[in-house]
Amino acid sequence: MIASPDFRTARLPLSHKSGHMPVLGFGTLIPDAAAAISATRDALEAGFRHFDCAERYRNEREVGQALQAGLTAAQLPREDIFVTTKLWNTNHRPERVKPAFDASLNRLGLNYLDLYLIHTPFAFQPGDDQDPRDQRGNILYDRGVTLLDTWGAMESLVDSDRCRAIGLSDIGLDELLPVYELARIKPAVVQVEAHPHLPETELLEFCQKNGIVFLAFAPLGHGLKPGPLEDPVILAIAARVGKTPAQVLLAWAVQRGTALLTTPRTAARARENFNISALPQDAFDEINNIQTRQRFNEVVKTGSPGFIPQGR
Ligand SMILES: NC(=O)c1ccc[n+]([C@@H]2O[C@H](COP(=O)([O-])OP(=O)(O)OC[C@H]3O[C@@H](n4cnc5c(N)ncnc54)[C@H](OP(=O)(O)O)[C@@H]3O)[C@@H](O)[C@H]2O)c1
Repeated sequence: MIASPDFRTARLPLSHKSGHMPVLGFGTLIPDAAAAISATRDALEAGFRHFDCAERYRNEREVGQALQAGLTAAQLPREDIFVTTKLWNTNHRPERVKPAFDASLNRLGLNYLDLYLIHTPFAFQPGDDQDPRDQRGNILYDRGVTLLDTWGAMESLVDSDRCRAIGLSDIGLDELLPVYELARIKPAVVQVEAHPHLPETELLEFCQKNGIVFLAFAPLGHGLKPGPLEDPVILAIAARVGKTPAQVLLAWAVQRGTALLTTPRTAARARENFNISALPQDAFDEINNIQTRQRFNEVVKTGSPGFIPQGR
C-alpha cells in the first residue's frame, strides 16, 4: 500500500525494523566519477530521497561524498535519505559478507545502511577480481557456497544496528521461494528489471502477497531504443495527458505498486523524472494491455553485468 497519494513523497513499508522506502529511487550506475557526483547532487536537489548504489559500480566513495555535500548544503539530516548498496558476487562466502558490508559503508561514509541487497544470486570465485574468468573467458563460479549460506550472513547484519533491511536482486520466483521459506529474516525487497515490456506480474503478485517491496530497475528500459520509451501506446498516452514518455512509464510503475530506480544524468531530467503523478485509469489499463515483451539486461541469467553504460 502506498503511504501517500503524491508520488513524489510516496513510500512503501518494509517488512522489518527499517521503516519505509521512498518509491522514487535514483540509481547510481554511472561509470564516470564526475558525472556520478553531479547527477547524484542534481537528484537530491530535484527531490529524490532514495539512492541505489553497489560495490560493483565502483563509485560508492564519489556517491557518498556527493550525498554528504548535498545533505549539508540543503541542511538535511542523514535520516531523510534512504541508501541501498549491494554485495557483489565475489563476496558470497559468509565470512566475506560483513567485511564487504563494512567496506561499502566506509566508502559511502555512512554509519548505517537502509538496505543491503545480494546483487545477484550467482556466486563467483572469491577474490579481488570482480569478474573472475578462465582462459576462455568463461565466468568462474563458486560452487562451494549456497544462496542460503549467504543469506544467513546477511541476516546477521540486520541483527546489528548498522543494516536496517536486506533483500535480493536479479532473482526469479524459483530462486526467491526457497530463501523466502527458509529465511529467519524474510527478504524486505526484491530488485529486478521491470517495465511495460517486462511486467514480471507473477513475481510482483508474490511480493505484494508476502509484504516484499518490488523495486523495478530499468523502468525506462535502460533508455534503449527501440524500447518502452518509443512504444506507440506510451507515446499516445504521453501526448494525450501532457506528460513526457518517461513520466508516463515512471507513473505506471508507481501506480502498479512498485518502487522504481531511474538514472537521469542532468538536472532537467532529474526534475522531469521526479515530478510524476497518477495516470487516468484508462491510460493505466492500456499500458497493462501492451503485449510487446523485451528483456534488456541479461544479468539475471549469468550474474555477469548485462548493462554497464559506456561513456554515454
Ligand atoms: N540490480 C541490477 O542488476 C541492476 C541493473 C541495472 C541497473 N540497476 C539500478 O537501476 C538504476 C536505474 O538504471 P536504469 O538504466 O535501469 O534506468 P532507466 O531510467 O531505465 O534508464 C536510464 C537511461 O534512460 C535515459 N533517461 C533517463 N531519463 C530520461 C528521460 N526523462 N527521457 C528520456 N530518457 C531518459 C538515460 O539516458 P541518458 O544517459 O542519455 O541521460 C539513461 O541512459 C541503475 O542506476 C542502478 O542503480 C540495477
